[in-house]
Amino acid sequence: MHVCGIILVTGSAGRIGQAVVAELQRRRYRVRGFDRVKTPGLEDAVIGDIADAKAVHQAATGVEMILHLAATPDDADFMTELLPNNIVGVYNILEAARLSGARRIVLSSSGQVNWWQRMAQHWPVRVDDPPSPRYWYAAAKVFAESIGRGYAETHGLSVIAVRLGFCPRNKAHFQEVISSEWAQDVYLSPGDAGRFFACAVEAPDVHFAIVFATSKPKHCVHLDLEPARQVLGFEPKDTWPEGIEMALMSEPERAL
Ligand SMILES: NC(=O)c1ccc[n+]([C@@H]2O[C@H](COP(=O)([O-])OP(=O)(O)OC[C@H]3O[C@@H](n4cnc5c(N)ncnc54)[C@H](O)[C@@H]3O)[C@@H](O)[C@H]2O)c1
Repeated sequence: MHVCGIILVTGSAGRIGQAVVAELQRRRYRVRGFDRVKTPGLEDAVIGDIADAKAVHQAATGVEMILHLAATPDDADFMTELLPNNIVGVYNILEAARLSGARRIVLSSSGQVNWWQRMAQHWPVRVDDPPSPRYWYAAAKVFAESIGRGYAETHGLSVIAVRLGFCPRNKAHFQEVISSEWAQDVYLSPGDAGRFFACAVEAPDVHFAIVFATSKPKHCVHLDLEPARQVLGFEPKDTWPEGIEMALMSEPERAL
């Protein structure tokens, strides 16, 4: 898809959002951020809350595409966190996409949508296997995917829902990945995350798609990467621990 207008990135100040903004800037796209905190290195960055419909609609005015990452990124209190950020926020951003005439929206979902399939150990999980959401956070992601399909069919908006792998945000996450082969296989490096969203921007002719996005698995393919490759042309480059920052490691790991 040829994109010359503004790409709105919500959650632009976050772990994955910053990587996405950096990759889009590298490819010379016009990027607008939207986050409740300041986005480093981005001039056109709106500070606002995704649960505030007016702020979202203003930020989306005139944009060509929306990459929706703003959310509470894991399980948290449903009424005070997930409901406003991950449910009302999805409603606001889809309505803003419809009213602004954006051509495409990319919705960040999660591998946690297929959580309990881990018990059956039938790998890889495919995108059209029945979801088994881990808990409220993942159930809210299923909601986003479902209504994303509804907007594609009802309003002709191009919608891509991506079940993202594990992009460690802090030292505790880093330790979690070190101690689990499964986590290493669903690792998503910041660089691959940026490249994935750039592919989602550039892919032509997508009506509605759900895809998984991880880096290259180290031991075993847990999440089927074929739809991302076939529909969006996404090929991950990194394998755990490639692309992870030294800052997340403790001293002994840095010395290795
Ligand atoms: N990092 C991962 O491993 C992972 C895995 C699967 C899915 N995801 C999804 O990817 C997206 C980004 O996750 P992340 O890891 O970058 O998380 P993050 O917490 O680093 O970034 C989220 C950003 O959204 C912003 N935000 C949160 N609530 C907001 C609100 N109400 N209004 C405006 N901005 C708000 C935060 O300020 C933050 O900058 C989320 O949708 C998350 O659910 C992340």
